[in-house]
Amino acid sequence: MPEIEFAKSVLPKGGVFVVPLAEGAALTGLAAALDKALAGALKRAMEVGEITGKKGAAASLLAPKAGYRRVLLLGTGKTEAFNALAAENLGGAMAAAVEKESEVTVLADALDSALAAHVALGARLRAYRFDKYRTTQKADEKPKFSKLTILTDAPGEAEAAYAPLAAVADGVEFTRDLVTEPANVLYPAEFAARTEALKKLGLKVEIFDKKDLEKLGFGSMLSVSWGSAREPRMVVLQWAGASGPVGADGKKVKKLKDPIAFIGKGVTFDTGGISIKPAAGMEDMKWDMAGAGTVVGLMAALAGRKAKLDAVGLVGLVENMPSGTAVRPGDVVKSYSGQTIEILNTDAEGRLVLADVLFYAQERFAPKYMVDLATLTGAIIVGLGHEYAGLFSNSDELSEKLLAAGKATGEGLWRMPLAPLGEMYDKNLKSAIADVQNIAGGRAGGSTTAAQFLQRFVNGKPWAHLDIAGMAWATKELPTVPKGASAFGVRLLDAFAREFEG
Ligand code: BES
Ligand code: MN
Ligand code: ZN
Repeated sequence: MPEIEFAKSVLPKGGVFVVPLAEGAALTGLAAALDKALAGALKRAMEVGEITGKKGAAASLLAPKAGYRRVLLLGTGKTEAFNALAAENLGGAMAAAVEKESEVTVLADALDSALAAHVALGARLRAYRFDKYRTTQKADEKPKFSKLTILTDAPGEAEAAYAPLAAVADGVEFTRDLVTEPANVLYPAEFAARTEALKKLGLKVEIFDKKDLEKLGFGSMLSVSWGSAREPRMVVLQWAGASGPVGADGKKVKKLKDPIAFIGKGVTFDTGGISIKPAAGMEDMKWDMAGAGTVVGLMAALAGRKAKLDAVGLVGLVENMPSGTAVRPGDVVKSYSGQTIEILNTDAEGRLVLADVLFYAQERFAPKYMVDLATLTGAIIVGLGHEYAGLFSNSDELSEKLLAAGKATGEGLWRMPLAPLGEMYDKNLKSAIADVQNIAGGRAGGSTTAAQFLQRFVNGKPWAHLDIAGMAWATKELPTVPKGASAFGVRLLDAFAREFEG
């Protein structure tokens, strides 16, 4: 991760430069000064159409003069459309283009200081790497990008604007690290242990072990863990940003008032259990805890930027394995809500985890809204691909807020149907011997079936479910996401949380 610095708009005598160019704008300020130092090379590149200000346009001038290693010109599009998200995408594109350089200077004097801060955020998000298991990398394969200097007219202002964004980036990185870890390293107890590090941000961290969960009566979630040698955990993270005071030791947190609750599916590995999955691609199921990873990173972001709201994050952590003690198709378990569940497919395990955690969240915290995140169904990938996460909600108001936050952060949501409007979906969950069964008859409408199951455990409270199965892991790069764990949802829900901060 590069070190980021904001500095006064003075052109250095050499180095690697990034020059953002708006559509139709002439060279001014630092860009004009650089052009002069390079005897008109930038102007010439523009005149011959080597570079335009069109969004996404890019050109590189290599060593145009001794001491000037490289000048990267990037089109930023129309000035009036250049918002925070566009600035982040520019920062990301830049980070990808200069990853082989060690020190880079951005001429951001034409941007206002808040946008300059978003350029820094985008660069940092795109420069993320997970190299802890590489031991044989050669020097030229190692990342070099170590320092980013952003030249702006108001460095103090830009730095102040960047501080809360850096907290969000910390949260994103926390999530990406968890999601990327292999399942032999990151199992429920290890995931829970890593959340203890968040106490230093002022979060209250509670860890429930197997005995605690048995005492509570989490029969649904526990059944998923029966087959695994790894014991389950639930973690509850509280942030009292509105009702404070918040103690650094995490102990002085008052009773939360009308918190927003975030709930995450944390299946640290999903083999499918006795209803076992095919071998091809099963390794992907190490990231079946991405919902939980996102909730934890989000809570870190909120605490890190001292968000002025009360929030609680709850994650259910289990490993889904086949074995002599594993839950069988046809078994009936009793959930924390009291409803009995007939488990017809042990691979539909995420909903069994969420059923207990959701019911517990609404009962203990009486949240204003509950939002759960889960890599819940393959069917949502069939429906929406890797462009949108599915949004299912019993509240139009909550849905509108989430859709707006998605638009603002470029983390797209698409609303899907749910009963009572789609009553027929719920009927398919009627069990022959229990209150509910965990799958419907066939594969049709699989994502809504899953959401429908969850709805039986929210007790009529305002709630939204985000099915992030298609979004949690990027198989191709995005402007601010390298390949791999995306941490989809951290920025979206951070923006959503801002709605509640006076
Ligand atoms: N974790 C999977 C869903 C998933 C699949 C996430 C692919 C990411 C990529 C979930 O637990 C699952 O197995 N769902 C089943 C449900 C079915 C048995 C009703 C599915 O989608 O096939
Ligand atoms: Mn499964
Ligand atoms: Zn799963």
